[in-house]
Amino acid sequence: ALVGKGRHRHFMAKEIEEQAEVVSHALATYLLPAEGKIELPEGGIDFSKVSRLTISACGTAFYAGLIAKYWLESWARLPVEIDIASELRYRDVPYQKGDSALFISQSGETADTLAAMRHAKASGVKVGAILNVVESSMARDADAIYPIKAGPEIGVASTKAFTCQLATLACIAIAAGRQRGHLTEADEKRLVHELLKIPRLMADVSSKERDLEQLALDLVPASDVIYLGRGVSFPLALEGALKLKEISYIHAEGYAAGELKHGPIALIDEHVPVVVIAPDDQHFEKTVSNMHEVIARGGKCILLSTSEGLEKARADDELLGSFAMPSVEPMLAPLVYAVPIQLLAYYTAVHKGTDVDQPRNLAKSVTVE
Ligand code: G6P
Repeated sequence: ALVGKGRHRHFMAKEIEEQAEVVSHALATYLLPAEGKIELPEGGIDFSKVSRLTISACGTAFYAGLIAKYWLESWARLPVEIDIASELRYRDVPYQKGDSALFISQSGETADTLAAMRHAKASGVKVGAILNVVESSMARDADAIYPIKAGPEIGVASTKAFTCQLATLACIAIAAGRQRGHLTEADEKRLVHELLKIPRLMADVSSKERDLEQLALDLVPASDVIYLGRGVSFPLALEGALKLKEISYIHAEGYAAGELKHGPIALIDEHVPVVVIAPDDQHFEKTVSNMHEVIARGGKCILLSTSEGLEKARADDELLGSFAMPSVEPMLAPLVYAVPIQLLAYYTAVHKGTDVDQPRNLAKSVTVE
């Protein structure tokens, strides 16, 4: 099918904006809003019988998996092992009875993810695939398919597939929590209610993209950028750095905020902007205290938090910039915080004049090793 850019300058801009809509499609696939329940497809993984879940993927899909690990541990008390597919496929993993595995891929064609999935399956593990393209090699070989319903993603740098992967994984993790008896019906209802708010919150952030364009101007001259986050915001820091690298060619690294003092703080000076992802959660104070360590060393920070958080951080005069986020259930924050992270990378690239939709040296789908 032919997909156009509509009124947008780039596919990436269109795909960032349509996230509110496609995430609601992803959710509608698994949620029963009236009942406040999640229903996974028949014949899928029975999480009540799983003693260990392996997750694997490449690139952005891997970071979605990393966030899901936090959800599955917390909501389903399920031990999760996660690795990039190019490593997992060659590791001598001692798969055991009770193991299941989930592989995440937008295209369903990534050579390493497909090979890692086939290897797990050949080892007797039940394998599920979280896919956007449901007519793909991975769809054919998986024991169970979980579609993410993002629609065709044309921009090489993944955006809407990432948030639809997250929406799908959140539903899977909640359902797993119910199946394993760790979430009550009331817990499930509450989380479903919070999930249903997500598309509107994403649209709220999208509507303020001009502010994020302004913030991006501060990243344009940088040759290195650091992203910090804790908990579920840590994988998002990794994703933020990946997005920026891919399309603006600026060197960027994501770190767990607590790891800052074990190395990366040595890089801090006034030329290295630091993007701090600090939603209003149990980690907020610690992340902000890491931010103050950066500021004390002359570092220039951009803080993403709620307006309350921005106030509590009391750093306004010392910040390079900030962006006020809507409040969101803390565990689900990555779905909403993904939007400013993507827009920062997008506008940085636009102002640098790089080829946003077709970055140099990258392919949408890597079907060779
Ligand atoms: C390529 C793309 C990335 C994507 C990765 C995994 O490197 O440029 O955006 O995250 O492949 O692709 P998949 O289709 O398996 O999600």
